[in-house]
Amino acid sequence: MSADAFDVKSRAKVAYELMEHPWPADDIWSTYTKHSIGAFVREMVPPTDGMVFNAGCGGNDYGVSANATCVNLDISERQCRGLPKAVVGDVEHIPFPSNLFDVTLCVGAVLNYVQAQTTIPELVRVTKPGGLILVDFESSLSAEIMFSPQWAKPASVIERMYVDHMDKTFLYSPGHIRGIFERSGGTVLRTRGYHIATAMWERIFTKALIPRAAYSIDRLASRVPGVRALASSVLFACRKLPA
Ligand SMILES: C[S@@+](CC[C@H](N)C(=O)[O-])C[C@H]1O[C@@H](n2cnc3c(N)ncnc32)[C@H](O)[C@@H]1O
Repeated sequence: MSADAFDVKSRAKVAYELMEHPWPADDIWSTYTKHSIGAFVREMVPPTDGMVFNAGCGGNDYGVSANATCVNLDISERQCRGLPKAVVGDVEHIPFPSNLFDVTLCVGAVLNYVQAQTTIPELVRVTKPGGLILVDFESSLSAEIMFSPQWAKPASVIERMYVDHMDKTFLYSPGHIRGIFERSGGTVLRTRGYHIATAMWERIFTKALIPRAAYSIDRLASRVPGVRALASSVLFACRKLPA
């Protein structure tokens, strides 16, 4: 493991052990992020009474456990509290057998705290052939970092404020993530970008000053070809191909 990968992972573990909620209810950026992920999950995951895996659960399962058997996993013990069937573990080395889950979620930028080239094959491995895998990650094509040294790289590392601490994460390009899925036996069914207008605002001003109007514009921006490529957050729905 590279020094960056070790640093990103160990800092994430400490940060989420100290954090009450990954998405504080009084922070509009966080509530918009959680809402955008929840809408995609509801759209892509049909009601299931099968097995669901919530990788990097962060105390939240987006309601998928309503009828299903949902297994939650997080590197932080604190983020496992309050969720049923919760296991403390690392998404880079998932402690479950292959072909177990009908649906695997790894959303809320969990991928940005780990090496995508190690984690995505693990997510695909534990999912049944024909099963669904949903991921959400912060993109290196984001308008927020346009023309910076990290911009548009397949994989890069960045440090910036998140909620109440300096966060160190990887950023990945959508093309890089798609390539790893395809090499791991998955196919991408649908993608969606969000945090586009908000990312543009952050590039010029700061996150703290993002006006409410930017969140409304964001929903429109996600439909404009070209502009949507600059999304800071990207959702992928993938299917594991039959062996
Ligand atoms: C922003 S939170 C998202 C939580 C949840 N998935 C959601 O969307 O609400 C990121 C979560 O990833 C977890 N995480 C980070 N690195 C991880 C790893 N290597 N293995 C498992 N979980 C990890 C953190 O502890 C944290 O709970």
